[in-house]
Amino acid sequence: MFKKAFKVFICLAILLLPLLFSKMARAGDEIKEYEPNCTYEEYEKTYLDFYGSSTQEMAEEGNPADLMLDDGEELFKTVAGTRGKSCASCHGENGEKLKGVAARYPKYDPAIKGINTIAYQINRCRVEKMGAKPLKYESYDQLALTLYVKSLSNGMPINVSIDGPARPFYEKGKKFYYTRMGQWNFSCALCHVKYACKRVRTNLMSPNRHHADHWPSYRLKWGKAGSLQRRFRGCMKNMRAKPLPYQSEEYRNLELYLTYQANGLPLEVPGMRM
Ligand code: HEC
Ligand code: HEC
Repeated sequence: MFKKAFKVFICLAILLLPLLFSKMARAGDEIKEYEPNCTYEEYEKTYLDFYGSSTQEMAEEGNPADLMLDDGEELFKTVAGTRGKSCASCHGENGEKLKGVAARYPKYDPAIKGINTIAYQINRCRVEKMGAKPLKYESYDQLALTLYVKSLSNGMPINVSIDGPARPFYEKGKKFYYTRMGQWNFSCALCHVKYACKRVRTNLMSPNRHHADHWPSYRLKWGKAGSLQRRFRGCMKNMRAKPLPYQSEEYRNLELYLTYQANGLPLEVPGMRM
């Protein structure tokens, strides 16, 4: 009886072994990146044909998020927390010491053994340096401060590093971007690389080159400004996948991956989108 059971077990094990190995091999495989379906220049032409110049005209009338930027500057200079400090106390009255910093974010930070973003760092400074409460992600004040700090690098070329300790996190971000998820079994890369410039219903898919150079942005659909990670959540909802929390490890890695795609482009915040 026992011998028989043992034999069955061995047979099963032998049968299942190749399956196990193939799974392991797949997990270790390099991701096959898609060839982008179009360049950003081609996308811009298609966009004009598709939507006309209304977005451009809108942008020329000014960005409603400029008000948020002014509020962010004000907040930067406002004392908060138990230690009687403002951001300006340590980073310069007009944020001089933070000029150029945001163009190198997200970046690896040994203190958290992971990827740090501007929004994340703002809350760390509030808690660790000011004795203040962290600001709720996507709240007005959080966005306003992020916008102000990033605006101090406006016009400077994005230059995020994926070398050394940042590399594994970049790879995780890329893996996430290429992972199929949700009821439709889509991946980010499918829409924004492979099918870039194709139409899906009333939408025109953009290639990802400019996805991370303009956040926080004002979005007409939202009727207000929001972060890049809010956009991640929106696209995941559209994919019928469960969106992840703001500033989760996955989203910080993903932000690194996308920002690297924008390396060399000038940072320009606040952006404006439909
Ligand atoms: C008491 C001083 C102090 C205050 C107040 C403070 N910070 Fe910081 N901040 C630091 C120090 C020191 C660092 C360097 C990293 C560290 O030690 O955590 C830093 C790092 C940063 C960075 C990243 C800089 C880099 O080169 O990577 C940003 C952005 C930043 N702070 C923004 C803010 C904002 C916005 C506020 C207000 C909400 C603020 N800080 C309040 C001391 C402060
Ligand atoms: C079914 C197709 C589809 C999938 C899958 C998809 N998106 Fe999108 N995404 C869109 C559409 C449509 C827009 C709005 C038009 C545009 O800019 O492409 C958009 C816009 C965006 C934007 C804003 C671009 C800008 O210029 O401001 C970002 C960032 C973005 N998506 C990231 C992602 C990420 C990250 C994923 C995976 C979690 C993802 N998307 C998955 C269709 C998709």
